[in-house]
Amino acid sequence: MEKIVILDFGGQTTQLIARRLREEGIYCEIVQGNDDTFLIQKTEVKGIILSGSPYSVYESNSPKPSNSIFKSGVPILGICYGLQILTDRYNGTVKRSDHQEFGRAKVFFTKRSPLFKNVPDGFFSWMSHGDSILELGKDFELLAQSENHPAAVSNEKLQFFGIQFHPEISHCDYGTEILKNFAVEICGVSPSWTMSHYLETSINEIRNIAGNNSVLLLISGGVDSTVVAALLLQALPPERVHLMYIDTGLMRKGETEEVKRTIYSLGGRNIQIIDATERFLKKLKGVSDPEEKRRIIGDLFIQVQEEEISGKIPDNYFLAQGTLYTDMIESGKGVGTSAKVIKSHHNVRSPLVDKKRKEGKILEPLSFLFKDEVRSLGLLLHVPPQIINRHPFPGPGLGVRIVGEVTSTKCEILREADYIFIEELKKRKLYDDIWQAFCVLLPVKSVGVTGDSRKYGYVLTLRAVNSVDGMSADVYPFKINDILEISSRITNSVPEIGRIVYDISSKPPATIEWE
Ligand code: XMP
Repeated sequence: MEKIVILDFGGQTTQLIARRLREEGIYCEIVQGNDDTFLIQKTEVKGIILSGSPYSVYESNSPKPSNSIFKSGVPILGICYGLQILTDRYNGTVKRSDHQEFGRAKVFFTKRSPLFKNVPDGFFSWMSHGDSILELGKDFELLAQSENHPAAVSNEKLQFFGIQFHPEISHCDYGTEILKNFAVEICGVSPSWTMSHYLETSINEIRNIAGNNSVLLLISGGVDSTVVAALLLQALPPERVHLMYIDTGLMRKGETEEVKRTIYSLGGRNIQIIDATERFLKKLKGVSDPEEKRRIIGDLFIQVQEEEISGKIPDNYFLAQGTLYTDMIESGKGVGTSAKVIKSHHNVRSPLVDKKRKEGKILEPLSFLFKDEVRSLGLLLHVPPQIINRHPFPGPGLGVRIVGEVTSTKCEILREADYIFIEELKKRKLYDDIWQAFCVLLPVKSVGVTGDSRKYGYVLTLRAVNSVDGMSADVYPFKINDILEISSRITNSVPEIGRIVYDISSKPPATIEWE
């Protein structure tokens, strides 16, 4: 498959470069800045992009690409730090600048280049750099200039280009055109990549990698693992696709039944449902510290998984995972040695995963995809829309939505309330407008009055947020009548709940979950 490879030096917006290109039908992959193994697939790699970075090229520990990429004959586009790498590599000078540029800046051409096809002179770019080019690299010429600095350079003979601004940022006018020009006009990529291509390639890859071996996939009921299951079931005979679902007792109402139904509709026949509710509740008894609860749930999940696998599947099986591109970045794996590690998801790291990774027996067919791309892939694979459009649900489940000690009764109360909340959102056609909605049960009882008597009932919080990736979030602005009616249906249907509040905190400063 024709592709552009993006070398990641830890820039904040590297993912966006990939997004912009893929939106234009140009397939690309992001690899670590010093990786050059992709050059083995030389006929497929049509162009290389060097990303931005928080480093300065003149710092001794700054990340650098392998020398081999400059000799590969493949066109290169350096963005910001990437331009500075090109300049430094070809004996130009990069220095801390007295005129740092941040934000929109006009760019004027000094020479026309295919990189700027259909881009007007004086367009507004988006700058974010403290270092600047003082002297161009040898045999590089100036293509464009901002008020104070070189904005674009090229060495046409080598087909190397560098731009100081960030075309991937939506505030950069003509940014997508510039990236597309690099891929199409300079690298000769045809912008015809679609998710169907990805599907076809993935199926072939799964068949090639798995050979005659079995594959095990732990499914959670969420979109990612369901799409992987659908993919495996398209690629391999159903008897070789072992699907395992662990019911921790911390799932939502009807979830286990729905998982069974969905997997069956996708052709899965080899599904093992493990009811570990009692074990989880027993271990969680008396524990109210949130970190301790998370640790218990995570550890027990791995333990149950290992016990259930042991001896049941031929030893040389492959382990499939629904790891997404963003999970790889958040856990600091896969890309950007300099990318900040944000959190470790238990689907990325566990002793079993580590063992299988060491053995080279991991299949992660979604690891190059963003969440919305996984949804498109799911649609192609006939995954039911209610799964595709499902709000995210955390691994530890209701365990992080019952503040304080988790008990079976509290799980039942929360399950019922949450079910009503979500059902009402769907009925009112609000569900798809909201990124994530759920209820939280607080460890407080508050007084209420029903009939003639005073009664103490639990306090329940409703949470509904909009977000792009969960890293920040805004509160969903309900119409007051919707929230009043929903609350009253919950208190009328779940007698243990006496009072309902709506969480109006954004993230930051709050997080989405309450823990
Ligand atoms: P926070 O609460 O950190 O949540 O603002 C951000 C997003 O991550 C989800 N979340 C998790 N997902 N395992 C997961 O797979 C977890 O342990 C976990 N904790 C939080 C949360 O639901 C929200 O979408």
